[in-house]
Amino acid sequence: MSTAGFSRAVGSGPSFPSTRPRRLRSTPALRRMVAETRLHPADLVLPVFVKEGLSEPAPIASMPGVVQHTRESVRKAAAEAVALGLGGIMLFGVPETKDAVGSGATDPDGILNVVTRDVRAEVGDDLVVMADLCLDEFTDHGHCGVLTPGGEVDNDATLVRYAEMGLALADAGVHMVGPSGMMDGQVGFVRAALDHADRTDVGVFAYSAKYASAFYGPFRDAVESSLTGDRRAYQQDPANGAEALREVALDIAEGADTVMVKPAMSYLDVVARVADRFDVPVAAYQISGEYSMIEGAAAHGWIDRERAIAESVLSIRRAGASIVLTYWAAELAASLR
Ligand code: PBG
Repeated sequence: MSTAGFSRAVGSGPSFPSTRPRRLRSTPALRRMVAETRLHPADLVLPVFVKEGLSEPAPIASMPGVVQHTRESVRKAAAEAVALGLGGIMLFGVPETKDAVGSGATDPDGILNVVTRDVRAEVGDDLVVMADLCLDEFTDHGHCGVLTPGGEVDNDATLVRYAEMGLALADAGVHMVGPSGMMDGQVGFVRAALDHADRTDVGVFAYSAKYASAFYGPFRDAVESSLTGDRRAYQQDPANGAEALREVALDIAEGADTVMVKPAMSYLDVVARVADRFDVPVAAYQISGEYSMIEGAAAHGWIDRERAIAESVLSIRRAGASIVLTYWAAELAASLR
């Protein structure tokens, strides 16, 4: 069809656009030049699982491509993370035995403390070494804290255990502890315990707005969780956004060095609100279920795996997270080279 008639139609008829956003999308070089957000290895944190007593890395069925590491293999993963220029590593321990108070978490010879020592020896200060500060991997009931005789999670008794765990991790050489149990006052309590022990050097990487999410499903496999029931009496209700802002404000007031929203993809509005309002670094955790959804769909050929991975992490950065925890951290960093 000729457009000559339209272009002469002034005033009354349709007019062609004088502003054309497509111009800036027309070549790869133009798109690259005007990109508002970029991924960089230093923004990525790799979460890893290490199982006590394991002799070979063990695949996690619900997280294809992710393993439970041995003490040896996690050192290699940490060294590789340094070579790739990753920002940090987040350590999770899977103990051989569990009990009601999660003794393994505070035992200097417990798996998480041992691995923290190993990894720190491997990487020195070339990678931020962080550890998940929570009892759920270590308790036989699978809750994030200790229980009252009635079976409720006892907030203040749990704080005491978190402080002990924070000190054990500090002794093991952690750069930052990641309190993730959503107990009230956990950041302030752990911060005070560290300061009192003269460990003002250890940072708090706070899991501030953590939701009671169905997307943690595969993680329960990864850490062989014994949980029955759910965590709705301490993790946040997915219905709430403003509540996340209150949680973040409390954590900052209590001394958090960075704050986190978790999960990431279903909570990008929360990431954006937190990043808008607060001026500490904001992290978001792309959790196990987010990982497995994409891997699962890609394995069926339903989505383009590499593009979906890059798009998902980019969208978390675009929403305002400056740090992203993702099980694809190493793969993504390698692809960014
Ligand atoms: C608590 C913790 C959990 C995750 C990280 N830290 C589980 C939970 O709160 O139920 C989930 C991470 C993931 O799903 O990838 N120790």
